[in-house]
Amino acid sequence: MTISANTLDFGYPWWLSYGHLIVLVPAVALLLLGYARKWSKWPMLLLGLLVLWSGAAFVLTRFVFNFNGRAGSLPTQSFLRSGAGRVLDMGAGTGRSSIMVLESRPQATLVALDLFSKSFEQHFGHSESPQGRLLANLKAAGVEQRATIQTGDMRELPFEPATFDAVVSAYAIDHLNREGSKQALAEAARVVKPGGDFLLILIAKEPWAQFTFGPLLMHGGPRGPAWWTTRVQEAGFQVLEEGTRPATLYLLARRL
Ligand SMILES: C[S@@+](CC[C@H](N)C(=O)[O-])C[C@H]1O[C@@H](n2cnc3c(N)ncnc32)[C@H](O)[C@@H]1O
Repeated sequence: MTISANTLDFGYPWWLSYGHLIVLVPAVALLLLGYARKWSKWPMLLLGLLVLWSGAAFVLTRFVFNFNGRAGSLPTQSFLRSGAGRVLDMGAGTGRSSIMVLESRPQATLVALDLFSKSFEQHFGHSESPQGRLLANLKAAGVEQRATIQTGDMRELPFEPATFDAVVSAYAIDHLNREGSKQALAEAARVVKPGGDFLLILIAKEPWAQFTFGPLLMHGGPRGPAWWTTRVQEAGFQVLEEGTRPATLYLLARRL
């Protein structure tokens, strides 16, 4: 695979953006066929509903959730309000969350940490150089000079205590089991300075995501906002803000 430094390529699988077309295209074809052949009301109604759902779900995944596009602005402007400092991104993957922080906070520097192993491959496919893919995206976004790539496990971070002004983690900690999630939260609390911010971003079963993915949305198991809020508090943070974005739950917390 050639890695281009010119264009962002986050590498999330195609079906996350285009999977609903597998339902939409045949449903439209059948609806047209049924119309031409004057099928009865009920199959036509069913097909019409299928077209409406898969069409709306396609628009949502492709243009609103937009997993392979820039994450855009931070979910809360209160994160790292000073605008400057050293930030850790736990589970940086191919850079979507790191780029979101570095573009939103142009005075900040960031360490993009990932294990770059099985979980990386599950999300982004096999790659000879996963770190190279992350670097290429940081370069394409023009933020590589403020970023450092670090290979490591977020359950056992390779950093001294209180070395970061803020920590972010997006769609990563919810991939760990309960014990792993607690370890990662404890590690976030250990490496952030007292008074430092922690922004936790998770895939959420909010109404738009449920409409789009229905029962297929298994992410994080049955752990809901209350579970995460309690675990973040137990780790030593004060939760300042909680909110949702399409398909997303976020918590902004401060190290006590
Ligand atoms: C869905 S990706 C999210 C990537 C990125 N934060 C984003 O917003 O696109 C989850 C990432 O977490 C990483 N990850 C999973 N377990 C990890 C661990 N124990 N330590 C470090 N990274 C881990 C995976 O390698 C993967 O890149």
